[in-house]
Amino acid sequence: MHVIERLELLLKEAQQAIQSAGNARALEEVRVKYLGKSGLVTEVLKGLSQIAPETRPQVGKASNDVKNRITELLELKQEGFESKGGSELPLGWDPTLPGRRQPMGKMHPLTRVQQEICGIFKSFGFDQVEGSDVETDYYNFQALNVPPDHPARDAQDTFYLQKGLLLRTHMSPIQVRVMEKLKPPFKFVAPGKVYRHEAIDATHHHIFHQVEGVLVDKGIHFGHLKGILDNWVKKFFGSKVETRFRPSFFPFTEPSAEVDISCVFCQGKGCRICKQSGWVEMMGCGMIHPVVFENCRIDPNEWTGFAFGMGVERLTMFKYDIDDIRLFYQNDLRFLKQF
Ligand code: PHE
Repeated sequence: MHVIERLELLLKEAQQAIQSAGNARALEEVRVKYLGKSGLVTEVLKGLSQIAPETRPQVGKASNDVKNRITELLELKQEGFESKGGSELPLGWDPTLPGRRQPMGKMHPLTRVQQEICGIFKSFGFDQVEGSDVETDYYNFQALNVPPDHPARDAQDTFYLQKGLLLRTHMSPIQVRVMEKLKPPFKFVAPGKVYRHEAIDATHHHIFHQVEGVLVDKGIHFGHLKGILDNWVKKFFGSKVETRFRPSFFPFTEPSAEVDISCVFCQGKGCRICKQSGWVEMMGCGMIHPVVFENCRIDPNEWTGFAFGMGVERLTMFKYDIDDIRLFYQNDLRFLKQF
């Protein structure tokens, strides 16, 4: 056989051997077999002296080319092993296959709804502020005109910490925190976790989320409150949804109201979800009590305003027809993936 043909054959063989080498050791064996001291290609190079002088340069070049090509292939394969972090590369590994898709994370439904709630108020010009989960009795109760014997102060309802601290039972302390600092006019919303010492069931949890809102300016009256909340409800639930304001009581607002919305599932006709009434209670609200203004050194004769507070879980459950609040906290992907 002509030497050049023999070299081409060796290259083909070596190529195949390199391809099927499953690890670095097998690769080294291939190198020794072809390029080692008495390797097959090396032998051809050694025999050059016996070749006729006129073909020598041609054969010399061909054998060098083959040697270089094999070296190149060996290096490439070795790099493949190294980039895999080890010397083992499974047989049949194909680096040109597309990668495996990683599952994408999603926002928790409560986070999404909370952002949606605040986003609508921000489109009305409200700022967004944050408070602290740990509060003092003063901000959670006293400054909000909650009398010392109010049932909400009972250890049955409030998680008390050491040194007179407690976990906020509602987002309303943010009213006092902001009003102490800012000069009116202002309007803001504040989302956050609240804590109540309650037994857990399908509609109660000891941790849940509220969004509190406040607007203070000159000449603000109950009509403004109704206008803002009615507009908000129509943006959040849809333009056909109606609101109804029922008299209620909160120590920090006067007058106070509960806001009902017409049931989005039966259009107010009456169903299981609205307990046949056609209406569902959605939030508490009212005109900020003069005593609260005075506690924050704001003159109630000059400024008036309103506040409201809504439960994020409740709104989410109603919007998506979820009948058990515990689902939000169980981290069951079958539930979470639906949002
Ligand atoms: N803080 C009240 C609650 O948790 C809700 C509320 C906020 C009511 C603001 C009136 C004004 O129930």
